[in-house]
Amino acid sequence: MSSKSPRKILVTSALPYANGSIHLGHLVEYIQTDIWVRFQKMRGNTCHYVCADDTHGTPIMLRAEKEGITPEQLIARVWQEHYDDFAAFHVEFDNYGSTNSAENKQCAQDIYRTLKTNGLIEVRSIEQYFDPVKNMFLPDRFIKGECPKCHAKDQYGDNCEVCGAAYAPTDLINPFSAVSGAAPVLRNSDHYFFKLSADTCQQFLREWTRSGALQAEAANKMQEWLGEVGENKLSDWDISRDAPYFGFEIPDAPGKYFYVWLDAPVGYMGSFKQLCAKQTPTPPNLPLSGEEPTAPSPDKGRAGEGFAPLNFDDYWKQGSDTELYHFIGKDILYFHALFWPAMLQHAGFRTPTKLFAHGFLTVNGEKMSKSRGTFITARSYIDHIKNTEYLRYYYAAKLNGSMEDLDLNLEDFVAKVNSDLIGKYINIASRCAGFISKRFDGKVGSEDSSAFELISASAYANNDISEHYEDRDYARALREIMRLADVANQYIAEKQPWALAKQEGKEAELHAVCSTALMLFRDLTLYLKPVLPELAAQVENFLNIAPLTWKDVHSKLPAGHIINSYEHLATRLDPKLIEAMVAANQESLKPMTEAHSQQRHAEAQQHTPSPLAPLPPAGEGNMISPIADTISIDDFSKIDLRVAHIVNAEHVEGAEKLLKLTLDIGEEKPRTVFAGIKSAYDPEKLKGRMTVMVANLAPRKMKFGLSEGMVLAASGEAPGLFVLSPDDGAMPGMRIK
Ligand code: MSP
Ligand code: ZN
Repeated sequence: MSSKSPRKILVTSALPYANGSIHLGHLVEYIQTDIWVRFQKMRGNTCHYVCADDTHGTPIMLRAEKEGITPEQLIARVWQEHYDDFAAFHVEFDNYGSTNSAENKQCAQDIYRTLKTNGLIEVRSIEQYFDPVKNMFLPDRFIKGECPKCHAKDQYGDNCEVCGAAYAPTDLINPFSAVSGAAPVLRNSDHYFFKLSADTCQQFLREWTRSGALQAEAANKMQEWLGEVGENKLSDWDISRDAPYFGFEIPDAPGKYFYVWLDAPVGYMGSFKQLCAKQTPTPPNLPLSGEEPTAPSPDKGRAGEGFAPLNFDDYWKQGSDTELYHFIGKDILYFHALFWPAMLQHAGFRTPTKLFAHGFLTVNGEKMSKSRGTFITARSYIDHIKNTEYLRYYYAAKLNGSMEDLDLNLEDFVAKVNSDLIGKYINIASRCAGFISKRFDGKVGSEDSSAFELISASAYANNDISEHYEDRDYARALREIMRLADVANQYIAEKQPWALAKQEGKEAELHAVCSTALMLFRDLTLYLKPVLPELAAQVENFLNIAPLTWKDVHSKLPAGHIINSYEHLATRLDPKLIEAMVAANQESLKPMTEAHSQQRHAEAQQHTPSPLAPLPPAGEGNMISPIADTISIDDFSKIDLRVAHIVNAEHVEGAEKLLKLTLDIGEEKPRTVFAGIKSAYDPEKLKGRMTVMVANLAPRKMKFGLSEGMVLAASGEAPGLFVLSPDDGAMPGMRIK
């Protein structure tokens, strides 16, 4: 494929939801994509990168309602925030749109109409969950329960984050409303379905799975979802939602809206359509015959396009010879590998050339966590660390094109940036550039003839490096680049320009050594440019050269070329900045708000020490009391332990040790429990927390009232009292066994 040149490539990243901030997890994807796009552009391929905010659906509608603004106002604000965050991380889209655009509406409705004409839309009355407290049909993400496929607890109503399956909310086991907590009731309503179960869809998807469009891991998943031939495992996909809903109305179906996941991937098309409109030359500036065309205006998206206006159909119509790649997280593979290609195929459009799925980010080996301060927003990174290319470098050093999760180890992050970027790469320029400026009037000399092999090895490495970039194995590309940097540093260490500078008659040698080092530095800059675009621009400025493209591997800095004086390019990363960033992201035990309980990829709500301060080893200075007599499982099961939501906590007048707790365990009326935890807890901090209670303890009449149970807390010889918390996701009334 890479021999066909120049290629015409359209690249997308998943469209981030417009109801939350960009965080370092998201950035794994956008940085990965941006590096690939920059690489393609440097290669001289025509490559366009589009994305958009994913703006529809109930969470956005409800959040706007809560903030007292319209959904349109909310999505406009978030759009700007997202856009600015991406720009700060040098994620350079050719167009960043919104799914709530006229272009997207048009595309979504056209696709729907064609699918309908092709007999792939069916209307069926279905029973659907309705929240009797909030008075609305409950969207999938507002119903939680147990996954019908893998039985993971606390999964959303549309798909399982544990096994990746997609299903209808009515398939959930033990459902509850995440808006009100109420048990939902079933009501009838007409729904529109995309007939994924039709033979044509199943057949097509079987072929498509084997077409090489998927990574091996993803193809295996698909095989699982599709089952054996004749098994007909796929069910039809419910693409409509009832009002009230923020989204596009379905043509000829008043009160019915497209489900957000219908128009979200279509958003790739909508955004591209906007790009096409932006690039249509106005007025057309056609060259006269026989004349060289005048250079097009420096419009980023136009790279390599000359005058050919960007044509939507060239990229999207069935039979297109362009390439289409979607970078996505592994959590949304089901939508991109089943629904999306099936929709495209049956609506007359081309299907993706490849899906590039990646894994999830962990920080210090664990899921990102607000309580640990590792749920780090893009904004807080920008505010504290400023240099966003450090993160780009670190992610690149870890990304290998697979679906494995990727760990951001904060200590390793500091070490890697300082040892590789500063210690190896920047070091080359900082050790040699000064001599060129001071001793040779900024003029580059001819290269050291004894270093011929070194210089040609550096140029020759471009084949491997570009192959690794193409394969999205950036980790390998960077290992190769750092190996070249090591060799360059060795060369400098051997030649000791600082010593040559002090010796008489060594002028020519000093000039040759420093010039050679600068040429190697230029090559390294070229290789690193997809990852470090801003640093590369600074270097281009310092070297006084045109923006580097991949072709430049075959050229050198000519003797006599004048460079600008060297200015400091980058500073070491100070670990204190990381500590401050983590502290700024750390939330103490806060009341469980609706936003918390709906937080996607939510994390445990327990209080843990900062990631840079490990726990003391168990047992150290920690005497334990003797273990009690053995009991049978029957004895244990007599104790009914329940997850309890602390609805209220207050001081009790006249009580020295007690707090009065109001506990919701899913019963009609909350219970009152007097707990001896006053010495350890501020009641305000307990409000909203989840804990564990003994629910079948005989009620006890106390001086201050009736206590209807007991909460559990840990204590030992050392001072301190610690109330228990279940992991995030546990709901009031769940039994603990
Ligand atoms: N709106 C959908 C995508 C629609 S695409 C037609 C969505 N949005 S998202 O904001 O939740 O995620 C956007 C992308 O970021 C997804 O590809 C998702 O996998 C990725 N990530 C979100 N959190 C992530 C991590 N913690 N780690 C790595 N990628 C993550 O899904
Ligand atoms: Zn599951």
